[in-house]
Amino acid sequence: MNKPKKDKLVIFDTTLRDGEQSPGASMTKDEKVRIAKMLEKMRVDVIEAGFAIASPGDFEAVKAVAEAVKDSTVCSLSRAVPADIDRAGESIKPANSGRIHTFIATSPIHMKYKLQMEPEAVLEQAVKAVKHARQYTDNVEFSLEDGSRSDFEFMCRIIEATINAGAGTINIPDTVGYGEPDEYGKMFARVIANVPNSDKAIFSTHCHNDLGLAVSNSLSAVMNGARQIESTINGLGERAGNASLEEVVMAVRTRQDIYPVATQIDASHIVPTSRLVSSITGFPVQPNKAIVGANAFAHESGIHQDGVLKHRETYEIMRAEDVGWNTNKLVLGKHSGRAAVKSRYEELGISFESQAQFNEVFSRFKGLADKKHEIFDEDLQSLVGHDQSSISHVYQFENMEILCKTGQPPQANLHIRVQGEQQTVSAEGAGPVDAVFKAIEKIANSGADLKLYSVNAITAGTEAQADVTVRLESSGNIVNGVGADIDVIAASAKAYIHALNLLATGKHKAHPQREGV
Ligand code: KIV
Ligand code: ZN
Repeated sequence: MNKPKKDKLVIFDTTLRDGEQSPGASMTKDEKVRIAKMLEKMRVDVIEAGFAIASPGDFEAVKAVAEAVKDSTVCSLSRAVPADIDRAGESIKPANSGRIHTFIATSPIHMKYKLQMEPEAVLEQAVKAVKHARQYTDNVEFSLEDGSRSDFEFMCRIIEATINAGAGTINIPDTVGYGEPDEYGKMFARVIANVPNSDKAIFSTHCHNDLGLAVSNSLSAVMNGARQIESTINGLGERAGNASLEEVVMAVRTRQDIYPVATQIDASHIVPTSRLVSSITGFPVQPNKAIVGANAFAHESGIHQDGVLKHRETYEIMRAEDVGWNTNKLVLGKHSGRAAVKSRYEELGISFESQAQFNEVFSRFKGLADKKHEIFDEDLQSLVGHDQSSISHVYQFENMEILCKTGQPPQANLHIRVQGEQQTVSAEGAGPVDAVFKAIEKIANSGADLKLYSVNAITAGTEAQADVTVRLESSGNIVNGVGADIDVIAASAKAYIHALNLLATGKHKAHPQREGV
């Protein structure tokens, strides 16, 4: 018997745009290009690379992604206003395939209080925006922001009008994560049935995870006719995040008996991409996170272990290697040469923009290999994720000495370069990390608030590198600094200094859902 033919499910990744809206998750142009290339390798259909009008840096980042990526469509977000659309149109010009994603809020609460506009004016502006965007590309997506809380009749009218104006994709976001799977899914079925020209567009979901329902809501929409899911790696995104790409993709693939769709994603790149995003943004992945968490395929209980050994499928519904958990035990060390390191990076799906970039990473590999006997894939990924060569360094970590004695406050003596000039400073603290941060602040005097300090071991064992994230807030701007070292105190100092450099160079982002970007 022939299997029923599946519809294509378009996977739209917004890690570089909505993901970047997580507090402190802003990325540099080079970091965005690195992640975009991994997404392209994974065969993501559409990469939303940023919000071009937000800042000159974001414009350049979208443009750089459009230049670097050949196989995926590259998209820029824009509000439904001409200046935004023009900027988005310019930014995607170099793309082989470019999309403009324009949006306006359609719920009563957003129209009344945020936009202070009448529904008819919103409808008119949406149509004008889509027509304007079509001057740049045939590939235009229109989003009804806060769609899940919008009036049904109004939503149908605006969708019909924007499809007539040339939108090929209609996205109905659950912007505030309020939707419930049955209700959100049925809304898609009703809209598709009621809008006369609905067959001329692909319907898309964009769900936030405030109630932990983003993936369920997205999949329910798919069961009711949606054929694009907007999602992010590791579920990164505004507030509680977006639907997680890896969960959506693996649900559709694992339950082919249920879902009437298939994706073109090469799932073997999921884990390396998850790691790259985590180390670039400084957002650790919780160990029990589905698909990409460290425990996702670990069987602790004896009964489970026994079952898996006898027959894997007793307790495993997916194969770890299919999503990129590494079975290759090849370990590199201080005798490994350039060719071996480069080839391992290639196997991990990581390529370098230039020889200079590889040289920089290779020299850090050598530094690490001097301290640590075995370099695992996770270490290699972290070395790339922590490449800070593309941001300007106001402060640079040189070295430090920590004095700890039971019963006495620890003391940190630190050598830092400030604008290239070496400075030495000492401070005491409640613990060694506190002493280091106080010492750095004696020099930087940033006045920033420490919002988060987190330490993760990159691999197992006491020789493992520590991956540290430091989140600082200053004048409402939030940044995440990251640092890795086998010495947890040095990793902490590097992360703090990275955060200060991000603040000093304005690496924080404007927010598209807030007016006055
Ligand atoms: O959550 C949302 O509504 C968005 C839109 C801009 C698509 O991110
Ligand atoms: Zn969103």
